[in-house]
Amino acid sequence: MNYKELIKMINHERMPKHIAIIMDGNGRWADEHNTKRVIGHKEGAKTVRRIVETAVEAGLKYLTIYAFSTENWQRSKQEVNYLLKLIMDSLVKEIDDLITNNVNIRFIGSKKELEKSYNKKVLNTCKTSWNNDGLHLNVAMNYGGRRELIDAFKLMSDDIISGKIEAERIDDEMVSNYLYTAYIPDPDLIIRTSGEKRLSNFLVWQSVYSEFWFTKTLWPDFSREEFIQSILDFQNRKRRYGTR
Ligand code: IPE
Ligand code: IPE
Ligand code: MG
Repeated sequence: MNYKELIKMINHERMPKHIAIIMDGNGRWADEHNTKRVIGHKEGAKTVRRIVETAVEAGLKYLTIYAFSTENWQRSKQEVNYLLKLIMDSLVKEIDDLITNNVNIRFIGSKKELEKSYNKKVLNTCKTSWNNDGLHLNVAMNYGGRRELIDAFKLMSDDIISGKIEAERIDDEMVSNYLYTAYIPDPDLIIRTSGEKRLSNFLVWQSVYSEFWFTKTLWPDFSREEFIQSILDFQNRKRRYGTR
């Protein structure tokens, strides 16, 4: 079945609100094709476009993509520079189309270390998309779940000291609203490609009750069909939240 037919099988009452994706396997794809890792990343960027388009067509509300982790700085300088440039160049290329499609785009992650990499035009254009009420696309860039929690603890401490909040009143909701993902619902479904079955510091606080969908497919080969299959699979699950 092609993805258009699969989309018709989605039960919109049981649609996940938020899907988060750990896009993994670009390097192995490159190895399999006897080419350089950066070519794998370039191919992976095409998959991003395909999956964002499909998410819009499927009527998804929130999509978070893990583009660059706080640990990814440990790769070679050449790979790091290529990746950061590729992420920005892809956004420069796609942003007008995204905005026309009513997509609301934001970055989540630490701004530290990235001042030079962010393209001013992209950042300003992102701001103009914040009135859009279609797909909310969160690009996790220099993102680490622990870094996010540490940043939140720091902000909360400042606010306790200045009397803005009371330590006694800290609860789940308040912590959530100090994160980069403030006011974004927790992910219902987390997809990881390439056969690895770990979180790799992604959405540490937010994933406590997420459903997981793992596939051996390498990110550059991840298809629209497989993406919709993951939604259909999610719709058959029973989420119990510890209640029974
Ligand atoms: C995912 O592919 C891209 C990023 C982590 C930025 P990898 O580069 O991790 O590919 P593998 O895991 O080496 O195959
Ligand atoms: C996770 O993939 C980070 C991103 C997809 C951006 P990695 O390839 O960096 O994770 P590990 O090293 O396999 O845990
Ligand atoms: Mg990897």
